[in-house]
Amino acid sequence: MTSRTMWLLGAGLLVLAGAVFAAETQGLAQTSQAGVNPNPVRLMRAPVAPLSAMAQLGKEIFYDASLSSSGALSCASCHSPDHAYGPPNDGPVMLGGATLSRQGARAVPSLTYLDRHPNFSIGPDKGDDDNVIDLAQMAALGQQAARTTKTAGGGGASANIVPQGGLFWDGRADTLQDQALFPLLDPNEMDGGSAEIVADKLRRAPYVQRFVELFGAGVLRNRRLLIAEAMFAVARYQVEEPSFHPYTSKYDYWLEGKARLSESELRGLQVFNDPDKANCAGCHTSAPTRDGLPPLFTDHQYEALGAPRNAALSGNRDPDHFDLGVCGPHRTDIPEQTQYCGMFLTPTLRNTATRHAFFHNGVFRSLDQVLDFYNFRDTNPEKVFPRAADGTVLKYDDLPAKYHANIDVTDPPFDRHPGDKPAMTAQDEADIIAFLKTLTDGYKPEN
Ligand code: HEC
Ligand code: HEC
Repeated sequence: MTSRTMWLLGAGLLVLAGAVFAAETQGLAQTSQAGVNPNPVRLMRAPVAPLSAMAQLGKEIFYDASLSSSGALSCASCHSPDHAYGPPNDGPVMLGGATLSRQGARAVPSLTYLDRHPNFSIGPDKGDDDNVIDLAQMAALGQQAARTTKTAGGGGASANIVPQGGLFWDGRADTLQDQALFPLLDPNEMDGGSAEIVADKLRRAPYVQRFVELFGAGVLRNRRLLIAEAMFAVARYQVEEPSFHPYTSKYDYWLEGKARLSESELRGLQVFNDPDKANCAGCHTSAPTRDGLPPLFTDHQYEALGAPRNAALSGNRDPDHFDLGVCGPHRTDIPEQTQYCGMFLTPTLRNTATRHAFFHNGVFRSLDQVLDFYNFRDTNPEKVFPRAADGTVLKYDDLPAKYHANIDVTDPPFDRHPGDKPAMTAQDEADIIAFLKTLTDGYKPEN
């Protein structure tokens, strides 16, 4: 048994004990032990230090709307600091372009907790190890490999060859530095025009002196260097600024024994971790690492879950348009790896309760809808997918039929069949949502 399984078992026992306790004490005032983690851990958090000069420059750029063609959009417009660096709006995607009328192609992810995000790779599924092969080797392997099941606490080695890491829903950017130029130039986002135009704006920016101080006056004459340093600065800002990775959720403090979870939150945690029920932790890891790093609620791997098509996206008016994730069209380097068509990155669930759009296409508008999707996709697909004119349920209507074999039908809760009992009761769903709300940063611990 791995230490991770033991940890999960520990949490399970604790929750059971909590439930028994709660039953025994019905009607009585709760004693001081209720809802406290009996095995508190010490979480490693990065020490808080003032921003370096580089990160301060990055902050100026992060908030600079003049870099967009509309003059109204900065990184922070879509990645709002008041919304866990996620979208401030209620819609499935954000609007951008010169007149802020062009829809973005995908839901805006939170920028929190990317500092521990690995680079894109394709390799054996070995939990958090870093055994990696190059993209060409993986091509051959990936096409032969049989799928193995991921269960919460399953840990162990498997022959599964899976894509992991990388930024964006399809992993097409490796580093925060590489990533930052995409939104600056994307015509649906900041629409910066070209690297020349962006460089000109940086030369005229109120913070231009910071470039000179950091890199010397020569940097202003070298467009490529200027942009590379600017993007590096934005990356440093996201790495150094503590509010991008605060680990101040109620769950973090509970892990440390500094907060108590309610009965519903504890039950939610148990169902979340239970491999026979929701099995959420099979992909959204909930246990601290062996080194005491707080859990990120993602294993950084890609999965095709077969979410429904979002009719609210203008790109989807074309019935032949499909967002296939890892195999394209936004990502262009491995279109021939069709075994990855339909796969998207498993996002962190930290701060997810602050969102109004869920999954890569923003098709779900509430956590209730997300939980119903996990619970009913296979037992009652009519609750999740639309129907054709003749009444047939259009299961997996956002992925061409030839790729349906890529969809995960082995990892619980996706191992059910029509007529089976759903993995969760309505109460389980409600308890998981209560637990997910403990993952929002900014909780004030008791001691
Ligand atoms: C118009 C809205 C918009 C603006 C402005 C914007 N982004 Fe984004 N951002 C997105 C969307 C949408 C995605 C996901 C795109 C995808 O997966 O293809 C994203 C993804 C990201 C990611 C990857 C996150 C992850 O979990 O993989 C990072 C990092 C990021 N943006 C940083 C920035 C920075 C830095 C800026 C400013 C230079 C910026 N963004 C401006 C909408 C925006
Ligand atoms: C087999 C791996 C796997 C399992 C098991 C799993 N998830 Fe996910 N989860 C993902 C992936 C992959 C996505 C993104 C899918 C997409 O965008 O198409 C996701 C997305 C989400 C999101 C949306 C987050 C966002 O920022 O948009 C939530 C919320 C979520 N999962 C909660 C859960 C819960 C609750 C459970 C258990 C009932 C669960 N997940 C089980 C892999 C998994």
